[in-house]
Amino acid sequence: MHLIGELSAVVATALFIFALYWMNDPKTARHGVVAGVSGMLVAVLATWIQPEIIHHTWVVGAIAAGFLVGVPLSRVPLTAVPQRTALSHAFGGLAAGLVGAAEYFLWLGQRSGGAVTVEMTHFRMSALAAEVILGFLTFTGSLMAAGKLQEVRWIPQRPVTYPGQNVVNIGVLAIAVALGVAVALHPGAPWAGQAFLAIAALALIFGVLLIIPIGGADMPTVISILNAYAGLSAVAMGFVLDSKLLVTAGALDGSSGLILSIIMCRAMNRSFTNVLFGAFGKAQPAIAAGEQKEWKQETVEGAAQLLEQARNVVIIPGYGMAVAQAQHKVRELYDALTKRGIDVKFAIHPVAGRMPGHMNVLLAEANIPYSALVEMDEINPEMPQTDVALVVGANDVVNPAARYAKNTPIYGMPIIDADKAKTVLAVKRSKNPGFAGIDNELYVQDNTWMLFGDAKAVLGDLVKQFAGAGIHG
Ligand code: TAP
Repeated sequence: MHLIGELSAVVATALFIFALYWMNDPKTARHGVVAGVSGMLVAVLATWIQPEIIHHTWVVGAIAAGFLVGVPLSRVPLTAVPQRTALSHAFGGLAAGLVGAAEYFLWLGQRSGGAVTVEMTHFRMSALAAEVILGFLTFTGSLMAAGKLQEVRWIPQRPVTYPGQNVVNIGVLAIAVALGVAVALHPGAPWAGQAFLAIAALALIFGVLLIIPIGGADMPTVISILNAYAGLSAVAMGFVLDSKLLVTAGALDGSSGLILSIIMCRAMNRSFTNVLFGAFGKAQPAIAAGEQKEWKQETVEGAAQLLEQARNVVIIPGYGMAVAQAQHKVRELYDALTKRGIDVKFAIHPVAGRMPGHMNVLLAEANIPYSALVEMDEINPEMPQTDVALVVGANDVVNPAARYAKNTPIYGMPIIDADKAKTVLAVKRSKNPGFAGIDNELYVQDNTWMLFGDAKAVLGDLVKQFAGAGIHG
């Protein structure tokens, strides 16, 4: 039985590694999902068959509860995936924190009854303290992050800051760590039980304090960092429970979360410390230059003519395409244009939308050939030769203010040079700013024409122009 458990752990670990490897490419990403799910299934079964597991009804109950919560969570729209992911991390953190607390108090109980089954070494107790701190801070931190992303009314979107905030935050964490060291050195001391509870409470408070100064715009990056914390907490739990599978799975989770946060920070030209302590996402004043100029509107017929006359078109999708679910209409327009011999490419900004790969996933769903997707660094040199840049629900990622407006939160973020195209057509519903809350002068520059409306409806009308009376191929 033990051998089957060990072998299953190796199989599950291999499946997790393949899952991450296959996730690297949209063509193999589906295999990655299947491998990840299978790995988790093998891991659960391998744990279940361990001889120590005797109360099977509890396991069945826990699995049923997991299904009850997990199935509705899996049905959220793609635009809500970042907050859904945050909730998953919250559950992971809570599980790690509760297991850690249960392990410690079980040992404490056995000790007072004089029937200790496992020795509480300094190492084991240190791992337990780390598990509880990381687990509980991930729990409340992820709940706050999910709330901010979901725009829950009683959680302020804007960063909440006050003087000496970083000192308070670091102070709370430092006390929790100091108590952790004290309990690790004297796990059986008369005060150790209370100290352990204080560690858990401080970690829960620290999770909230960590997130309140961070603005909504940085939440996806923060979620990724919290993912890394949840992974590290699972590693600590693995040492506590003597489970190699938990150690490896947690390490994979932690390192992939960390790598993802670094990739996201680079794409936004932000440093890690800036995300965690910079209070990004503050409401910013509008750019004065944009206020004076006029917005020029184009009709669908006029826009179709412009596109028809172009030799090359670059479509720049953003969060608005995801909100409108316009990817299938984008595909129809792509077909109509390429049928006419027009060269059509998609410019993909690494943080367009609300999660990494957001645009790639949507465009792949609409079966747009992957070869037509061009990364930002590759497409930018081509922008000055582009006849029409068609911006579909993108805003911050094409905002020229990122190049020079030092007082804005997007300053320094690399952008797609839509403004350098000969003509710009921009689809959005209103004159409202993008996620970072700042005006975009691209929309009011001389060669830009607005197509106001929901992206799905506007693109649908454009496609009709090509299919029907308007434009003939
Ligand atoms: P945004 O700046 O959020 O702009 C989206 C635009 O889409 C808005 O201006 C909105 O204007 C428009 N829109 C919304 N619904 C629409 C609809 N149904 N039809 C047509 N237009 C619609 O998006 P972006 O340019 O993709 O930039 C992403 C932002 O998220 C960046 O600030 C980025 O830093 C941040 N962020 C992203 C990530 C990742 S990993 N993707 C991570 C962290 C932060 P209207 O309301 O006027 O329609």
